Amino acid sequence: MLLRQRLGNSGHISILSLHYQSRYQISDNNMNNYKRNILITGGAGFIGSHVVRLFVKKYPEYHIINLDKLTYAGNLANLSDIEQAPNYSFVKADIADLDDMRCIIRDNNIDGIIHLAAESHVDRSIRDPFTFARTNVMGTLALLQAAREYWESLPEKFEGKLFYHISTDEVYGALELTAPQGIESPFSTKASSEHHHAYGEEFFVESTPYNPHSPYSASKASSDHFVRAYHDTYGMPTLVTNCSNNYGPYQFPEKLIPLFINNIRHRKPLPVYGKGENVRDWLFVEDHARAIDLIFHKGKVADTYNIGGFNEWKNIDIIKVLIRTVDRLLGNPEGYSDSLITYVTDRAGHDLRYAIDSRKLQKELGWEPSLQFEEGIERTVKWYLDNQPWVDRITSGDYQKYYEEMYANR
Ligand code: NAD
Ligand code: DAU
Repeated sequence: MLLRQRLGNSGHISILSLHYQSRYQISDNNMNNYKRNILITGGAGFIGSHVVRLFVKKYPEYHIINLDKLTYAGNLANLSDIEQAPNYSFVKADIADLDDMRCIIRDNNIDGIIHLAAESHVDRSIRDPFTFARTNVMGTLALLQAAREYWESLPEKFEGKLFYHISTDEVYGALELTAPQGIESPFSTKASSEHHHAYGEEFFVESTPYNPHSPYSASKASSDHFVRAYHDTYGMPTLVTNCSNNYGPYQFPEKLIPLFINNIRHRKPLPVYGKGENVRDWLFVEDHARAIDLIFHKGKVADTYNIGGFNEWKNIDIIKVLIRTVDRLLGNPEGYSDSLITYVTDRAGHDLRYAIDSRKLQKELGWEPSLQFEEGIERTVKWYLDNQPWVDRITSGDYQKYYEEMYANR
């Protein structure tokens, strides 16, 4: 159900209250009928759309309001299957607009916020750090401030409220790659597969000091600090989680996995940064959404949880898996697309290895990945091949320009 963005009837109201008049109030839903009114920011993006879908379907007693600016990365088609649900509304707004955030939170009596809206692509942050500071830092601050003002104005104040901030493992910096051949992983989980090793002895834990390198991770680190500061200074109930690399359906094809699936399909070069030795820890996006649900409901306020896949891969190895899988599903002979691999200039400040230790979440709340990587990647490749119109729509127009700028002469 789309939100009506209507201007309030300003006949008898003061200038001050005009500010809060129901420009963003959801007219079709009687807010009092719902047990909770939850604002999910960035719900038209990759991870956000999976979180919105999960909450809308699982909690008909909650009203889910998806707030998104619909940047290049936001796409309402990601939610076409649930957009008519009675407990779902969408509002187009910019989190950095403090006045709008005040209106939306107040007029819709929001009691829980799951904050995913962000600029999320490292390569873009290298080109345009200011946009990242504006959205990720100032946007998060505006949202925090608007929530604080509203919740403090209520008789019950912060009771029953939660500001849950979704962050990244990149804030911790980079780990050493001390075992290039791979060593036995210290973790035993359902995520284990034949390929289950670690590329170093160290892992990111919740107490690992922040050491961001890219403008993206610096902006996320800054926003994490603001969230914690709002708890420590004002007593606002907050929570932060730091997750590893997600993969799955609806990811914008600027990120490694969807970009490479699309390029293999169209027989375009596969631009591997540096030597392809960098290591990432991959988690299927629906498992991240499940973790967010669990932590939103059962997580300890003011705490931090790391969320990871227990699933480290060197880029070049994952690229080979993608090539094999796409070729097999398209009926191409084995090795058909190997020659597309093209080594290009490395990403500036490229973090060598990310590896998350998410045993705290496993131990305290019983979460672990439900899918083995082999199954997750098969489902993912199939999804992109079966949903070519979705990919085509996204990769037309501006995307071509972006691709040219980012990869030409690299
Ligand atoms: P995404 O780029 O796919 O989606 C971001 C969404 O935020 C888009 O819908 C976009 O329109 C919206 N948005 C951007 N600026 C906005 C603004 N000013 N106001 C309102 N909406 C705005 O990102 P994603 O990969 O789904 O990541 C979601 C969150 O999870 C981010 O905070 C990211 O830092 C974090 N995260 C991502 C990963 C990953 O692997 N993708 C891993 C860990 C954490
Ligand atoms: O770790 C969590 C982070 O994972 C999230 O916070 C970010 O929002 C998300 O974008 C992701 O960041 P990465 O930089 O790790 O993801 P990306 O898909 O851009 O790149 C994955 C790896 O692949 C990285 O080592 C760079 C490399 N790469 C990427 C692209 C786009 C290439 O070799 N070639 C490419 O064309």
